[in-house]
Amino acid sequence: MQVTVDGVAVEVSDGATVLEAARQAGSWVPTLCFDDRQAPFGACRACMVAVDGAAKPVPACTTVCRDGMTVDTNDPTARRVVSAVVELVMSELPSPPAPHTELAQVATRLGVSGSRWPGVTHQVEHDLRHPYLAFEHELCISCGRCVRACDEVQGTFALTAVGRGFGANVAAGIGSGFLDSACVSCGACADTCPTDAITERLLLDGGINGGPPPDAPRLRKRLSTT
Ligand code: SF4
Ligand code: FES
Repeated sequence: MQVTVDGVAVEVSDGATVLEAARQAGSWVPTLCFDDRQAPFGACRACMVAVDGAAKPVPACTTVCRDGMTVDTNDPTARRVVSAVVELVMSELPSPPAPHTELAQVATRLGVSGSRWPGVTHQVEHDLRHPYLAFEHELCISCGRCVRACDEVQGTFALTAVGRGFGANVAAGIGSGFLDSACVSCGACADTCPTDAITERLLLDGGINGGPPPDAPRLRKRLSTT
């Protein structure tokens, strides 16, 4: 079927999403909860676009194309919604996200540099006991990608989404942390995390066999320079 995105006509297969069509047309659509290795989830609303015939913007990652559809990824209303969504997400963080993260890159491209609204930062102790993975809960934006990576990619089900609203977060095991969970250290969660809430620790940061505790902010800084 044929779909027109930002004036560019593309041929897409049955079942293709608007996001797939937009990427095929060379248009940029911001995403946060989407990872093309996982089934679309439609949780963050960062990918809102305008389509003909729809009264309101629709999420590109979960909306299926129909033949003849026209999509506008730069629609001002959709962009206002998306910028507000990203601003709200940023309000949960204690400080701006590290520049190399997906969240920072989406925010920069949208021109969002901070948040007008005070949010609530997660007050959960860092999980730094695992030798390979560190979890800084206050950086979590509850996109669910780590949970789905663990379930869909690795089939381990070690992570669970918990809480609601500003209290939403992710727990390993039954809140016991990575070390005591079913985690097999595959790193899929760290690989997909758009904020570095979960990072792969480097052994030389210590914390193993009685070494000094890892310095996660230092690890983030190091990763941002690679
Ligand atoms: S830890 Fe990262 S991937 Fe998991 S829900 Fe939070 S922000 Fe998303
Ligand atoms: S990327 Fe589409 S809803 Fe999150």
